[in-house]
Amino acid sequence: MKNRIHFKVCEQQEGIKKKVFSAIQEESKTIGYYRLPKQNINEILAYAQNFDKSIENIVLLGIGGSSLGAKAIYEFLKPVKNLKRKLYFFESTDPLNIMELLSKLDLTKSHFLVISKSGTTVETIAIFKYLYNIESSSSSYTFITDKNSALDKFSEKIGAKSFYLPTNIGGRFSVLSIVGLLPLSLCGTDIKALLKGANKVKESFFNDGYLKNSLLNKAVFYAKYHSTYNINCLFAYSETLHYFTQWYVQLWGESLGKRQNSSAFNVGVTPIGLIGPKDQHSFLQLIVDGTRDKSVTFIKIADFQNQLSIPNLSLPHLESLDIMNGITFCDLITMQSDSVIEALQSQEDIPLDEITIERVDEESIGELIYYYELLTSLMGQLMNVDTYNQPGVETGKIILKNKLQKGLKNDK
Ligand code: PA5
Repeated sequence: MKNRIHFKVCEQQEGIKKKVFSAIQEESKTIGYYRLPKQNINEILAYAQNFDKSIENIVLLGIGGSSLGAKAIYEFLKPVKNLKRKLYFFESTDPLNIMELLSKLDLTKSHFLVISKSGTTVETIAIFKYLYNIESSSSSYTFITDKNSALDKFSEKIGAKSFYLPTNIGGRFSVLSIVGLLPLSLCGTDIKALLKGANKVKESFFNDGYLKNSLLNKAVFYAKYHSTYNINCLFAYSETLHYFTQWYVQLWGESLGKRQNSSAFNVGVTPIGLIGPKDQHSFLQLIVDGTRDKSVTFIKIADFQNQLSIPNLSLPHLESLDIMNGITFCDLITMQSDSVIEALQSQEDIPLDEITIERVDEESIGELIYYYELLTSLMGQLMNVDTYNQPGVETGKIILKNKLQKGLKNDK
C-alpha cells in the first residue's frame, strides 16, 4: 500500500510527532487491538476446518463494531473470491429487513453467529430471540462475547459454543480479533493473509518504515486543523469498498466525536464515505465549490486483475466517445480518479491525499484496516479525547430501556 500526500505538511512539528509517537507506543502496551496482527489463530483455523460441511450460510447477528468490520472485508472480497459459504448480516430491528433476510435462508443449512461484546445489546438480542424462537437447537449457534457476560451465561446454559473477545478491545477496533476472524474464516477467507497485511502496516509504523511519516503527517495536520477542515471525505474508487467506508464512518464517528479530556470543548472530524465514480455525479460538486471545510482521501486499487474492456464499437451520433474504445475498465476508473485528483489539486486549498492498495485481496484490506485504526488512535491522542469509549451513545440506550420497561407495565 502506498500513501501520497498532496497537501503541505505542517512544518516544525517534529516535537509533536515524537510526542504522539511515544504516546502511541505507550498506549499499545494496554490497548488490545495493537497486538492482533501477531495473535495465535490456531483455534479459529481448527474450528473452521472441522465445521459442519453441510452448512452453506453463516448468519451473523450483531451491530456496530460487532458486524461492520466483517461485512467490510466480506463485501470487499466477494466479487473476486470463490468463497465456500455465504455470509448474511442481521444488524437491524427493521422488520422488513429481518423478513427479507429470513426469506433467503434455508435454516437447515445455516449456522448463526451471535456477536455482542456486552452481551446485552437490544438490537442483537431482539433478533436473536426471534430466530431462537424458530430454530432452538444449540448446535445451530456460536456466541462471541465477553467472558461471563449475560450472553456467555446463556450460551453455557444451552450448551452452545462460546468464543471470547481478547481483553481491552472495543467493538470498533475488534475486526481483526475473533469477532471478524471467525465469520470470515468460516466463509473461506484467508485470515492469515489478512493479519499479514495488518502486520506490514504495524511494523512499518512502529519500526520507522514507509508509512510512519505519512501517518504522523496526516494525523498532525487533521488534528491541528480539525476546526477548519472538520469533514474528512474518504473517496474510494471501487464498489467493493462501499462497506469499508461504512466501517470507517463508525470508527471515526464513535472514536473521535467527543468532549475533550479535561475540557468543556466538543470536537470531532465528520467522516463521509464516498464511492467513485458514482459520487463524482453527486457530492463532488460540494467538495469543489462548497465551503472549504473538507479534506479528501482517495483510495485507489492499483490492479483490479480484470481485463474487461470497452469494445471497439463506433455508434452513430456517439462518435465523439470513440476515444475510450479498447481501454480496460480498470484503466478507465483509474483515469477517472486521477482526473478528479488533478481537478481538486488545481483548487489549491483542499487538503488531499491518495492511498493505493495493490489489489482486491485479504492482504490489501488488512493493510487498509490497520492503517485506519492507527490513524484514528493518533488523531485521538492529538485531539485529546478518549478514543476508545462512547459515552454519547449511552443516554439513548437508557431511555429506550426505560421506555421498554414502561411499555411492559402498561401492558399488564
Ligand atoms: O464500537 C463499539 O463499541 C460499538 O459500536 C459496539 O460495537 C456496538 O454498540 C455493539 O455492541 P456489542 O458488541 O456490545 O453488542
